Amino acid sequence: MNTRYNPSGGRTAVLCGLGTWLPPGVVTNDDLAQQLNTSDEWIRVRTGIRQRHIADPSMATSDLAVEAAARALRSAGTSSVDAVILATTTPDHTCPATAPLVASRLGLAAAAAFDVAAVCTGFLYALAAATGLISAGLAHSALVIGAETYSAILDPEDRSTRAIFGDGAGAVVLRAGVAGEDGALGPFDLGSDGSGADLIMVPSGGSRQPFSPRAPQTSDPYFRMQGTAVFRAAAEAMAGSARTVLDQTGWPDSQPDLLVAHQANLRIVHAVADRLRLPRKRCAVNIDRVGNTAGASIPLALAHAVDAGQLRPGTRVLLTAFGGGLTWGSCALRWPRITPG
Ligand code: UT7
Repeated sequence: MNTRYNPSGGRTAVLCGLGTWLPPGVVTNDDLAQQLNTSDEWIRVRTGIRQRHIADPSMATSDLAVEAAARALRSAGTSSVDAVILATTTPDHTCPATAPLVASRLGLAAAAAFDVAAVCTGFLYALAAATGLISAGLAHSALVIGAETYSAILDPEDRSTRAIFGDGAGAVVLRAGVAGEDGALGPFDLGSDGSGADLIMVPSGGSRQPFSPRAPQTSDPYFRMQGTAVFRAAAEAMAGSARTVLDQTGWPDSQPDLLVAHQANLRIVHAVADRLRLPRKRCAVNIDRVGNTAGASIPLALAHAVDAGQLRPGTRVLLTAFGGGLTWGSCALRWPRITPG
């Protein structure tokens, strides 16, 4: 049984600000083809990706997170929140969490701050955690950030992961409000299946296989993914979770105006739309420009959809994601009147 939440009529979280940031460095498919045995055509046809942004090695995830979060706070017209939740697979350090560092640099030092580790579903899990804090009255506002520097954990020799993943950050500000108003989050659906944990994994550096500088040959510090198995699971889980939420929305035909799915692979986004019987033109797509940015994917796709004129006040939006764990989740909202930063 998945975790479900439907805030019908009660206090819930309302989205009131959005900000994003991409590192300026762009790596095209042709750039990759000069370093690895791959081609622009293979990457474009198999994934829909044309380029990805890659952070300078001097930058860490907190640096990207601060940029996006500052823009989200400006978009919301506020300089204080009660909680900061950061979804990331690539924290600055194994210990401590990155969120308190980000909060401190934003002048939010007194806020509750913690990281959420749910890989590509992280942003949706973080949204749900923030919504829980706000609904329970533990917080009146929250900053939810998805930020990643995958370039720091990819194997330079692995063409299948380097072709897909990119760096970036996105953030939203949530305030307390009531279900039914534009921007109110919910229903939610969250789920996991740990029997598939080995499909997406960084094998070394944790307590199961601590990194040993004396035996580096037995350690593998890089992100590993069994792409084909993940591909199948991703489309099925996102479509199932999305359907669970859509069936509780009361929207016409239980369908969204816009599907904002985790940008894992363009073929996966389209497979989810097909399973939901939703025309593909009702999908937000920015994977061609940014690649798969894991925890940052959903807010970056939202900002892109606003720029593209796909998201307007009142647009019925369905967010859905799938990632390592395995984890998945979905959430519905009607888009509020905001100006992204
Ligand atoms: O973010 C959430 C989790 N991630 C995802 O949802 C991603 C899901 N998976 C995928 O997007 C796809 O599985 C990939 C894009 C990673 C791979 O595409 P695929 O169509 O599943 O290819 P494959 O893994 O079955 O590999 C087919 C062939 C292999 O060669 P052989 O063994 O048949 O000779 C791969 O080595 O394609 C090869 N290959 C490449 N060739 C050129 C893998 N990556 C590349 C590459 N360029 N970049």
